[in-house]
Parts: sequence; C-alpha cells; structure tokens
Amino acid sequence: MAETLQGVRKRWGAVLATWCLAVAAAAQGLTCIAPGGEWPDSKGEHINAHGGGVLWHEGTYYWYGENRPARGFTTEVGVEVYSSTDLVNWTDRGVALAVSAGPGSPIERGCIMERPKVVYNRSTGKFVMLFHLELKGQGYAAARVGFAVSDTPVGPFRFIRSLRPNAGKWPDGFSRRDIRRAKKLKEADYKEWWTPQWRKAIAEGLLLARDVPGGQMSRDMTVFVDDDGKAYHIYSSEENLTLHLAELTDDYLDYTGKYVRIAPGGQNEAPVLFKRNGVYWLITSGCTGWRPNEARMFRAESLWGPWEQLPTPFEGADAATSFHSQGTYMFKVEGTADGWVFMADRWMPDSLRYSPYVWLPVVFGADGVPVLRWADSWSPAMFPAGASGR
Ligand code: DGJ
Repeated sequence: MAETLQGVRKRWGAVLATWCLAVAAAAQGLTCIAPGGEWPDSKGEHINAHGGGVLWHEGTYYWYGENRPARGFTTEVGVEVYSSTDLVNWTDRGVALAVSAGPGSPIERGCIMERPKVVYNRSTGKFVMLFHLELKGQGYAAARVGFAVSDTPVGPFRFIRSLRPNAGKWPDGFSRRDIRRAKKLKEADYKEWWTPQWRKAIAEGLLLARDVPGGQMSRDMTVFVDDDGKAYHIYSSEENLTLHLAELTDDYLDYTGKYVRIAPGGQNEAPVLFKRNGVYWLITSGCTGWRPNEARMFRAESLWGPWEQLPTPFEGADAATSFHSQGTYMFKVEGTADGWVFMADRWMPDSLRYSPYVWLPVVFGADGVPVLRWADSWSPAMFPAGASGR
C-alpha cells in the first residue's frame, strides 16, 4: 500500500527541519521550503512573485507572480516568472509581462497588476495569462481582468486587452422573473449595508444588475483548467461581495457568456480552485485588505454548483489568521501519487516586495477534505511517487 503523506510526516516530521538546515548548509542551493521565511532565488534575492500561481510544462515548473516594489503599492515592473525542477530552488527568468513605459496603455507603469495566473492551452499551443488589473491613478475602482498571451512559458507575454467580464449577460439559471426582479433593485434604496433587506437585495442581484450593461467587476482571481481542457475564470465581483465563476472560450481569451455566482454577499477574496478525485474545492479568504483572516472553503460536484460551505481548512495555532497568510493557488506535484501544495502570501504592506510566502503540503482527511497544518520546513521530495493526474 502506498505510504500516506500523514505517515511520511509522522515519520520524518521531527527530523525534517534539522535535516533541511544541515543539508542546506552542506549543499549549494536549498533543500526545503520554509513557510513564512525568506525564500532566496538562485542569485540569493528574495523571490518577487506575489499573489502568484505555478504551471508545470515539459518537466519544468514556472512560478508567475506580482513583481512588487520595496515601497508602494503600484506595479512598476510587471509579472515576474521563475523556473524550477524541484519546487524549492527557483531561477528568475525575468519579466513575463512588462508594464508599458509610455502613457495611455491600460497596463501603463503605475497601474496595479495582481494575482496573475498562466495556463497552457493544449489546442492553440499558447500560454495564456489572466490577471487582475487596476488602471493607473484609479485605486481599485476599475476592477478589470487583463489577458496576455505567449508562445513560450517565460514570455514575453503580449498584452491583448482588459475588460469587465460578461457585459450584457445574466448568470446561468437566472430566470426571466429573476432578471425582472433584479432590474428593479436600486442602490439608492439600500444605502445601509449589512441589513437583512440589503443582504436580500444583494442575493437577488442589486449590484449584478447594475453591472450587466458594462460588465461585471473582476478583482481577486484565479483560473482553473478542467480535465476536458475547458478553462474558467473565478473572480471576486459585485464590490468583492460575490464570487463569479465564468467559462472561457476554447482559446481562453474571451468568455462564452456562461457564468454562475458563488456565495452571494459572502465577501470572498483570494479564490483557489482545484479538483481532486472528481470533486471541486474552493478555498477563499474574507475581505480585510492586506491583513490576514480566517479562510473559508467550499465543495461542489459540479463547477456550476451547488457549492456547499465548509469550515476553514487551516488547523492548529493561528488557524484563525490562516497562519498569517492569504491563499493564491494550489497544484498537484507531478509524478506523485497525491502530493499537493497550497500557496499563500504573507503580505507585508510596508514592503510588499519582501512579503514572505507560505507554501504548505496538503493533507486530506475524511471524505477528501483538505487540511492545512503548519510546518516550519518541508520538502516536496517527501511526497510518495505515483502516477500524474488528479
Ligand atoms: C486583498 C487582496 O487579496 C490582495 O490581492 C490585494 O488586492 C489587497 N486586498 C489590497 O488591499
């Protein structure tokens, strides 16, 4: 019988941290991931790829994330990409998508690019990047998604356009009656938030209806590719109150117009979506700016729902702050039977560039429920080998 991750951790847990330090001292390069610590790249610089995601392609992992300045909140460089074959030692491969130096572009230097995710499109052979885009000088008001494309994983990616998703479309399952009712709702009638009447109006589509003509707001986001190659954009919409899950076209560069709302009024950010053994899982955070909060979790048999809410997957001391972090991505380690990594950011708003990363191995409990427990240091090499696939 294959050894479980729990078994491996029990056997090795006590010695792993000491072993990591000893081997690291003797060897060139790192042997372990130390969540919450400094994570130097091959040149000794703390990795600058925040709010990111990982793509495996032809034997190499690519880590894409926000290149953040040491001071300030705007994007001065773009989306950075690193590569690795062991998930521990990373080489900076440069700027995958650069800001535009000249004025007038939606990705002009000084805009805000957040949470970039890159997926590979098997049918077009292109690498497609989606990211949260805020226009220069507008704070977080624009709430747009950007699209960029490249022939190679390291880029340079070519910016295609930015938009607000699904203009003119109503969510899947919204009946004519639902649409009529939503269209009658007016923000002016619900000035006070969090009242029972306001909650009902949000659920019925107060902000959704407001944004149907121009497209839905799109902030914190991820992209998920299902086994059949179809891709989905999952984003915080409706003033960060409601998540949307929207189907992308076959080239991943546009929307089919089919989308659903998840947890209306639930204020979910930082969506992380993955599929394991045929079940879809969504791990999110609450909305408290750069401050960490308690994660939430949802489960569904179909991407279109219903999504059932479960308690946070974080367990142990500091679970209430998700170990002082906010999730960004989850992926299965290639060539392992069931080795999964949860990626999160420990934001340091005083210097976002030096924000640490919290990457943890995932343990699965009864009914396949993911559990996240703290580890001072660990190595992806501890995952038992096995077939790829999920
Ligand atoms: C929380 C989001 O998850 C981050 O990506 C970032 O947008 C901050 N809010 C900004 O306050």
